[in-house]
Amino acid sequence: MLNVVLFGPPGAGKGTQSEKLIEKFNLKHLSTGDILRAAIKNQTPLGLEAKKIIDKGNLVPDDVVIGLISRELDEHKDAQGFIFDGFPRTTVQAKELDTMLDSKGLHINLMMALEVEHQELIKRLLNRGLQSARPDDQNVEIIENRIKVYGEYTKVVADYYKAQGKFVSIHGMGTIDEIFERISKAITEHK
Ligand code: AP5
Ligand code: MG
Repeated sequence: MLNVVLFGPPGAGKGTQSEKLIEKFNLKHLSTGDILRAAIKNQTPLGLEAKKIIDKGNLVPDDVVIGLISRELDEHKDAQGFIFDGFPRTTVQAKELDTMLDSKGLHINLMMALEVEHQELIKRLLNRGLQSARPDDQNVEIIENRIKVYGEYTKVVADYYKAQGKFVSIHGMGTIDEIFERISKAITEHK
């Protein structure tokens, strides 16, 4: 079993790289952002509540996303491993993930942090905003707020994994394929 956290600021390429990694390493992709957007699309009570927060670029409460991940872990007991994308986003979430995995006899193998320059993040997200309907990509103020929230609450999660010796920094600039090579190499070296 291989369980990896793909970490990084908004627009770092977590979703893009996860899609490629699930193919190569036969993993299940768990993105709290994708799960929340599905709840919004289905207009569930949770989705309607989360939408107000997500559209501003703020964080959904820890207990909500922890509950979503817990359910996914239970629903995919036969998975060969997981890629966690956009989760954990706070130290509380990171600790709770360890507890949830531990209760199943599992653990995180590796945490890979995509490092991307600020201006490149803005460029990528504004560009996606032109093509997609993600409300949180539609203007630079919301994008800047997402990056600010990352700096305030999420960046520090790296220290949690550094303390466990699981942190790997990945240069996240360049083409999608170049970055995929770097991530694949980090996983293969770990294995
Ligand atoms: P989430 O969906 O996780 O969004 P995010 O972290 O803001 O990041 P993105 O999904 O926008 O970026 P990404 O790193 O996946 O990059 P991507 O591959 O898409 O979360 C959304 C919201 O949900 C949060 O703000 C929060 O409200 C809530 N939420 C989610 N999880 C939560 C949690 N755990 N706790 C609390 N709240 C939570 O790439 C971006 C763009 O760049 C794409 O268009 C892509 O094609 C392009 N691109 C990718 N790589 C490259 C490259 N190398 N060169 C050029 N373009 C590239
Ligand atoms: Mg994403």
